[in-house]
Amino acid sequence: MTAIDKKTLIEERVNTGLLGQWYPVAKSVEVKGTRPHGVKALGQKLVLWRDGSGKIRCIEDFCPHRGAPLSYGEIHEGNIGCRYHGVVVDGEGVVVRVPAMPECALEGRKALTSFEVTESNDAVFVYFPSVEQPKAPELVMPRELRSDAWTGFLCTSVWETNYRYALDNLADPMHGCYLHSESFTLAYGSKQDLMKLDKTEHGFHISRVGQAGENFDWSEFEVHAGNMFCFLDIPYPPAAGPGGFMRIIGFVLPIDERSCKVFFWRMREVSGFARDSWRFLYRAKLEQNHWNVLEQDRVMLEGMPDDARKREMLYQHDIGVSRIRQILTRAAKSQIEAELARAQAAE
Ligand code: FES
Ligand SMILES: [Fe+2]
Repeated sequence: MTAIDKKTLIEERVNTGLLGQWYPVAKSVEVKGTRPHGVKALGQKLVLWRDGSGKIRCIEDFCPHRGAPLSYGEIHEGNIGCRYHGVVVDGEGVVVRVPAMPECALEGRKALTSFEVTESNDAVFVYFPSVEQPKAPELVMPRELRSDAWTGFLCTSVWETNYRYALDNLADPMHGCYLHSESFTLAYGSKQDLMKLDKTEHGFHISRVGQAGENFDWSEFEVHAGNMFCFLDIPYPPAAGPGGFMRIIGFVLPIDERSCKVFFWRMREVSGFARDSWRFLYRAKLEQNHWNVLEQDRVMLEGMPDDARKREMLYQHDIGVSRIRQILTRAAKSQIEAELARAQAAE
């Protein structure tokens, strides 16, 4: 293996998405006990469903008989039955029954990869094992999502762009006062500044030097052993109800090299009557404003070429962008090296 090959493998791993990570793949309400739900994540097709106890199961979306999508099938007593010829597979990927063929040797065979699944805050997370971390570490959720003091809503959206652009966008507070300058909450503050980056216990904080609390002026990334997320604040005018700023918590799922799914929790720290009134106002009016802002991000990122980074010319404001890329590349390098070492040991 030459150094160039290794570099290519690292670049490919960054591009398809790191392994050894929990990723949100769906909203909890999308996964039912009545029919299977297909998703794509890290270039792989997966199927999810709820078994008899309500627990979500996840295996490859591939029938062991001839490869039909199991997500087109049906749920039988907590297992999944293929629509094509009826083969039934359980949540561990083991063939339970081949109804068309008596005493078929396939029965009892572990034929498919199964994935660990957990649910948190209305989202379904799937763990993608790596050589270094085959067993799932704890999924660390942001403190706002673990606290009763906060309330909010999960919104998801598919963006036809590589997930790296979505992360870059979150590490780039300076775009707020330009891209979103026509919006309800992001029209304020100066359009010129410097950025600074501070290390934090679990990641980094990127902020404008010259202003705070006027626009999207900072964001922060937390990187844990098995997942990463970002958060930022959007200042809120008094017309948007009680409770000060709105905090956005973002996770990004790489669907494949060309698309990603963003999972944003829109949160406020409000209680009692203020909580009810904000939740009402959000549903009635504010949600549409937030979608409009998010659409501006989506349209901009989808318009950028896949290989924009080969020609880009970064400047001082892009220290957050550089930092997130460095984190991804380092993790990918370590994963690829562990895989190569294992392959060599097996030779
Ligand atoms: S392909 Fe699924 S049962 Fe034949
Ligand atoms: Fe934005």
